[in-house]
Amino acid sequence: MAGEQSTGSARVWRNARLATLAEGLARLGVVDHGAVAARGGRIVFAGPESDMPSHFSEAAEIIDCHGRWITPGLIDCHTHLVHAGNRANEFEMRLAGASYEEVARAGGGIVSSVKSLRVASEAELVAQTLPRLDALISEGVTTVEAKSGYGLDLDNEAKSLRAARRLAELRPVTVRTTFLGAHALPPEANGDKDAYIGLVAGPMLDKIAAEGLADAVDGFCEGIAFSPEQMARVFDAARAKGLPVKLHADQLSNLGGAALAASYGALSADHLEYTDEVGAAAMAKAGTVAVILPGAYYFIRETKKPPVGLFRQHGVKMAIATDNNPGTSPLTSLLLTMNMAATLFAMTVDECIAGVTREAARALGLQAETGTLETGKWADLAIWDIESPAELVYRMGFNPLHARIWRGK
Ligand code: NIG
Ligand code: FE
Repeated sequence: MAGEQSTGSARVWRNARLATLAEGLARLGVVDHGAVAARGGRIVFAGPESDMPSHFSEAAEIIDCHGRWITPGLIDCHTHLVHAGNRANEFEMRLAGASYEEVARAGGGIVSSVKSLRVASEAELVAQTLPRLDALISEGVTTVEAKSGYGLDLDNEAKSLRAARRLAELRPVTVRTTFLGAHALPPEANGDKDAYIGLVAGPMLDKIAAEGLADAVDGFCEGIAFSPEQMARVFDAARAKGLPVKLHADQLSNLGGAALAASYGALSADHLEYTDEVGAAAMAKAGTVAVILPGAYYFIRETKKPPVGLFRQHGVKMAIATDNNPGTSPLTSLLLTMNMAATLFAMTVDECIAGVTREAARALGLQAETGTLETGKWADLAIWDIESPAELVYRMGFNPLHARIWRGK
């Protein structure tokens, strides 16, 4: 009976090549003749097949992978997946010469997505978001982060976060929600940013924290959004609620957002095109992950690249994400995102793959649960029809996913 209990309903994937991504191992922690065993939704073994305890191969359900590669399930750690409508019209304006900032100042931009989201019901929001989520899932994504930030008042921010929570009931995927009330100034605030920040850091965060709707708090620190001082008020309030913080930092200019985020021990600072060495050093010291978002860089035709070299020099961990949103990154492919990070920012294959697995987990504070193939973590796997991990980064618009396993299934 003890034997039966230890095998339980274990499943084993054998005859595979593993990229375990285990911390501290060279070259993705590759295992050539590997196996992964899972029970109760957790990994109970990952490593060379010859080292696997024999009771797994005796009683488990065994899947022969025929030499395919297994990586951790992919993690998209920065998205604005829950939104209504699209902004193809602004894309056309920008093609005709307007800049992202000009469009935003002319009443387009984030505020136009706010109008669309406010008139959508929670069910409509979910329905509009599911195809985007399904696109991510089809490429092996097992964890996705989703921000609010297009509601900008209590009811609509809560609606957006509830829609995000609902996604996890409708699909086999882990959803982490982030309250991004400090994304832009809503029209009814009549230009009074300080008063609006008072709402975000006060009644809005109170209610959202009380209902358990958010796993983290984010903001947009930028000339067209909020100042470092205003963001600090939001972060102080988040800290008082015990919620971790993140920041859209230094995307269009350097307001010292990366250093601000680091000073609050932020999980991540994201975008970072204009981050300087002071910011990079502060992030390294605080263990704040740099989330690189090549889709937004590409789509708004930014020319200033994030300082990947500085992040390497200072030992800042780097994640990569789609930043899926209707204004600056209507991108639902994490595979293409990796290709962009490599091609546009000269990130290595290993950095790209770690950036959508282990480091993306870290950017969500989930490094104990997912992001590597290691005993004790969620059994979230992606099984690929590839001959080498580099193919995941190299291709553009081709999906070699063979199977996706979420929590062992
Ligand atoms: O991550 N930078 C701010 N927020 C989004 C853009 C949102 C939008 O334009 O709708 C971003 O790029
Ligand atoms: Fe974003």
